[in-house]
Amino acid sequence: MSPHKYGRALIASLLAATAATGAHSQAATSQLFIAKSAVRSGSTFTSATIQAQQKDDDLNPGMLWVDQGRELFAKDCTNCHADAKGLATKLPRLHTDGSVVTLEKQIHHCQTERVKKPAYAMEGQPLLALTTYLAFSSRGLAQQVPANITQSAAWQRAHNEFTRVQGKLDFNCRACHDQLYGKRVRNQNISQGYGVGYPAYRVEWQMLGSLNRRLRACFFGMETVVPAATDPILADLEFYLVWRAQGLPIEAPAVRR
Ligand code: HEC
Ligand code: HEC
Repeated sequence: MSPHKYGRALIASLLAATAATGAHSQAATSQLFIAKSAVRSGSTFTSATIQAQQKDDDLNPGMLWVDQGRELFAKDCTNCHADAKGLATKLPRLHTDGSVVTLEKQIHHCQTERVKKPAYAMEGQPLLALTTYLAFSSRGLAQQVPANITQSAAWQRAHNEFTRVQGKLDFNCRACHDQLYGKRVRNQNISQGYGVGYPAYRVEWQMLGSLNRRLRACFFGMETVVPAATDPILADLEFYLVWRAQGLPIEAPAVRR
């Protein structure tokens, strides 16, 4: 569907209506827009059918990747990691050089430096299987948020990106996920935009995909320059999303439209 179907006027009127309710006051830079009590998982914005599919492991297509990941993990990783539970809660995290280590990057590191095997390609089957299995093994647990995350350069970079108006539609991430959530735009219910469901199976992709891929889809939707998968801004944003989620538990593999 053409991105132009949004209609700039529709968006503008939705935003004006939101502002008029006064529900979202001007927040200081390092404050969250959405009160902790109002934080809602992306699943709650999906249809009953999709929610049922996600909840039932026999129906959830993402479980195919979980099963493959379990096998790979047993083969290559259990020498050093006896238990997969909780590993994914530690990612994304800050590297000592100030960059963000995502789950994919950590696996890349262990795979090449410790298992001593060639790296897996981004968005390739083995890497998706491992990330999905690890996220699944932390299902119900919250990702760890560093105590002074808002003072980190990575947080600041991501915050600038999250709030930067860009693209042909003059949008930023915040317009959709802090202000328009719960509204129906372009035939999709907009959620609060957290990463805890990813890797997720998307009906639109007919495939499971990473959070990195989802984020690039959002840039595409904004009709702006879509960053390359390896662009560090995407890792920064993943880190920032953990802070935004305020302890929402991991629910991967989620099912999404
Ligand atoms: C024009 C509206 C719009 C903008 C702007 C936008 N997104 Fe999205 N985003 C969506 C839609 C639609 C979806 C799919 C439905 C949903 O979960 O919200 C989505 C999904 C997501 C999800 C997955 C949520 C889930 O639970 O499955 C994340 C994370 C996300 N967006 C982050 C971002 C970030 C970061 C930016 C800025 C770089 C951004 N979005 C900009 C519309 C937008
Ligand atoms: C030879 C030992 C070794 C092997 C094999 C190994 N790892 Fe690791 N892994 C580590 C160590 C040590 C850390 C601690 C953080 C660091 O130094 O990178 C770690 C950290 C991690 C983390 C972050 C969680 C944490 O506790 O820091 C994940 C996720 C992870 N490894 C995944 C994997 C996966 C997936 C494989 C198999 C493909 C694997 N590892 C194989 C040693 C290993």
